[in-house]
Amino acid sequence: MGKIIVIYHSQHLGNTKEIAEALADGAREAGADVEKINTNERRVTLDDLMNADAVAIGSPDYYGYVAGTIKTFFDDLYLWDQAGKAVTGKPAALFYSHGGGGTVKQSLEKFASRYFKQVGETVERGPSDAGEAKKKCLALGRELAQKAV
Ligand SMILES: Cc1cc2nc3c(=O)[nH]c(=O)nc-3n(C[C@H](O)[C@H](O)[C@H](O)COP(=O)(O)O)c2cc1C
Repeated sequence: MGKIIVIYHSQHLGNTKEIAEALADGAREAGADVEKINTNERRVTLDDLMNADAVAIGSPDYYGYVAGTIKTFFDDLYLWDQAGKAVTGKPAALFYSHGGGGTVKQSLEKFASRYFKQVGETVERGPSDAGEAKKKCLALGRELAQKAV
């Protein structure tokens, strides 16, 4: 089993962090080596990405869009890709949290589809379905680990 990085932004209530951790737990249970990066704490580097066999990307809904630091990650990806770095084509799992809106799903999936092969369905965590979202992320983490080789 390979290495997975779980890239997420969490800042407000820890909602996105909670499901990122569930996904990481699922991937670890399935035998993957997992690293988590909260982009609110540090920027993802090219080395982080090059060393990963698969990625998981999660964002809270900020004004119906991905959080700024997740947008920065996708901006960096564009530049790395243009520079000929082998950053595309990895399996990716997606997840998001929101406070009642949730249209972030569209921007997250649109950016990710440009660079990655999505694994499973994007997991949503709304204001009242934390338990269900955690279960789905745990399962998604296990599924992603199968592809991280
Ligand atoms: C700056 C900001 C903008 C937000 N905009 C929206 C929004 O447009 N729609 C929505 O459903 N929730 C919105 N929210 C709520 C967050 O998406 C929600 O609380 C999320 O779960 C926070 O994730 P976190 O606790 O991991 O930071 C916003 C929160 C913040 C801080």
